[in-house]
Amino acid sequence: MKIAVYPGSFDPLTNGHLDIITRSSKLFDKVLVTVLTNSTKQPLFSVEERLDLIRRTTKHLKNVEVESFSGLLVNFAKEKNCNVLIKGLRVVSDFEYEFQMALANKSQMPELETLFLPSAQEYMFLSSSIVKELARYHGDLTGLVPPEIEQDIRNKF
Ligand code: COA
Repeated sequence: MKIAVYPGSFDPLTNGHLDIITRSSKLFDKVLVTVLTNSTKQPLFSVEERLDLIRRTTKHLKNVEVESFSGLLVNFAKEKNCNVLIKGLRVVSDFEYEFQMALANKSQMPELETLFLPSAQEYMFLSSSIVKELARYHGDLTGLVPPEIEQDIRNKF
């Protein structure tokens, strides 16, 4: 069985993430969406809240599972016997950071491969921070986040 891990902080999940999850689910037998901690970020949503938002929006994708992990991503991958990471690339500026991360992860687990999927054109500008900024000032979130979680995001502000 071909398993892939799609890691991120997902604070919160956006349509850009959902697009990558949906496309990955067609490429792999199982996709593990994994909520991890980026130690440089102060999250708005708790891990439990983030898991709930992702589970609600991916429940129609039968081969997608959603979990959290605290610690190094490579340790999660090893635990799951998985050697493929999925990352979305939006703009050229993502590349440098993601390339560095891919090599850092590989230094810890040589058999681990990072697979980059280009973001859909309509989500190239999107990030969780942009969604939070728009929500904070009552901006329009239509098309940027799944409709079933829009109110949860608005309720945070
Ligand atoms: N559509 C929309 N937004 C996207 C996207 C897409 N396809 N792909 C990425 N993004 C956004 C994310 O929402 C995030 O936005 P934000 O900065 O506003 O929060 C940003 O782009 C960066 O995404 P990503 O590179 O996935 O970072 P992340 O912070 O979400 O996740 C971890 C990084 C959690 C995977 C990483 O820190 C990690 O692996 N942590 C565990 C510890 C570890 O193993 N570290 C590595 C070894 S040194």
